[in-house]
Amino acid sequence: MSLSIIGMGYVGLTTATCFAAKGQNVLGVEVNRDKLKNLKLGIPSFHEDGLNKLLLTNIGKSLHISYDLNSAILESDISFICVGTPTIDGEIDLSFVKNCLRDILSILKNKDSFHIIVIKSTVVPNSTDIVFKKIIEEEFQFKVGKDIGLCVNPEFLREGSAVDDFMNPDRVVIGTSDELSEKKLISLYECFPGVPIISVSNSSAELIKYTSNSFFATLISFANEISNISEKLYDTNIIDVFEGLFADRRFSNNQKDRAKALPGLVTYLKPGPGFGGSCFPKDVKALAACSTSLSFEPSLLNAVLKVNEFQPYNLLEHAKRLVGSLSKRKVGVLGLSFKSNSDDIRESKSIELVKLLVHEKAIVYAHDPMAMKNTRDFLKNYSVNYEEDLQKVVSKCDFVFVCVDWPEYKNLDVVVNSLNPNIFILDAKLFLDKRKYKHIAAVGDCRLAHD
Ligand code: UGA
Repeated sequence: MSLSIIGMGYVGLTTATCFAAKGQNVLGVEVNRDKLKNLKLGIPSFHEDGLNKLLLTNIGKSLHISYDLNSAILESDISFICVGTPTIDGEIDLSFVKNCLRDILSILKNKDSFHIIVIKSTVVPNSTDIVFKKIIEEEFQFKVGKDIGLCVNPEFLREGSAVDDFMNPDRVVIGTSDELSEKKLISLYECFPGVPIISVSNSSAELIKYTSNSFFATLISFANEISNISEKLYDTNIIDVFEGLFADRRFSNNQKDRAKALPGLVTYLKPGPGFGGSCFPKDVKALAACSTSLSFEPSLLNAVLKVNEFQPYNLLEHAKRLVGSLSKRKVGVLGLSFKSNSDDIRESKSIELVKLLVHEKAIVYAHDPMAMKNTRDFLKNYSVNYEEDLQKVVSKCDFVFVCVDWPEYKNLDVVVNSLNPNIFILDAKLFLDKRKYKHIAAVGDCRLAHD
């Protein structure tokens, strides 16, 4: 089977490279000339573990990336649309997908054989079977299921481990318009033996994607709410609280040896600075807007977003409860990306915190192993000192927020204890060993450890 993949962003490029590595013949299409030039040299425009190497191995062999949509469509059997679906005022903007679809359909006017179009971009439920189908049938007079297969195949890739997630999927979800398309997509994914394929309607496939992201976002806001309550109480420890929760038999099917049966959720879910990135905030907002447009008030989803929005304010308030005003004080922010192992700062809670600190008139020192350039470009109107050397931040500041669980910060105690043992640390990711610091508090703590 030959695949064309339109849009070489994080999802498209990962999909194209991994399918090529699995032996499929892949034609990638990218319209941005600068991006394309680098991709042809095997250089992605973003960091993703393992992607660079896989791209270099396959480019020019089973993977060809070009500007030429026409040849890519005519020479392939299945086209994956992987273009962006941003939100405007919380509502999803489908215009990139629609434009891409129209471009593909114009080319398909010159092709006789059955062609499958797969929507991989995250689109709100009913987009495919109502909005896109209408374009195909009314504007271009093709019959869905007869001339063209119209499918949905959401991705469940996490930034930082996208290649591994693609190569070792926990499930593959496909929505299909007809039996032939279903058969072809199932046979494409046979290169992942043993992986469950969940074959459903297009709208269910779309809703599965939003349900998944909204579910985890809801749990994160729940964990953060409990942590915020804990901070107001006397003598609680949020790690103990969650351990107590996770000991429930409903989190494990093996009560005798729980360690062997702990679900991934137990290691994933922790209170923190709030969720960021290009997916959770956008997808929860889009699902909430979709629900509102259907005259159903999504009270829970709205609350999830509200809790998340306030998390940086809560961090700031927590810091002020510990040490008083931060005005004119040297304050470090360690970790600027929305999560570790990524240079992506989209919707990063650290960025919001930096803005709040500048507003508080703190003298801000920022550090991140990968995201300094992106932050500098994004916050160009904010007075922030960017410090490549972690030791310098620690020695200069009297308060430090640790906002991302980068491995580089795991042994921060060594630097702190040798350079500035009296510094105050606020561990927003609950991953430092409190016993190793003189003054440390974490989210969920009602007071400083050792006070
Ligand atoms: C998320 C989903 O986890 C993927 O399954 C999905 O495919 C992807 O969105 C997508 O829609 O493309 P991602 O945004 O890469 O993946 O990152 P996560 O690791 O899930 O983290 C999202 C945010 O939640 C990060 O800011 C992270 O720090 C935060 N988070 C995560 C918490 O604040 N607390 C937690 O307990 C877990």
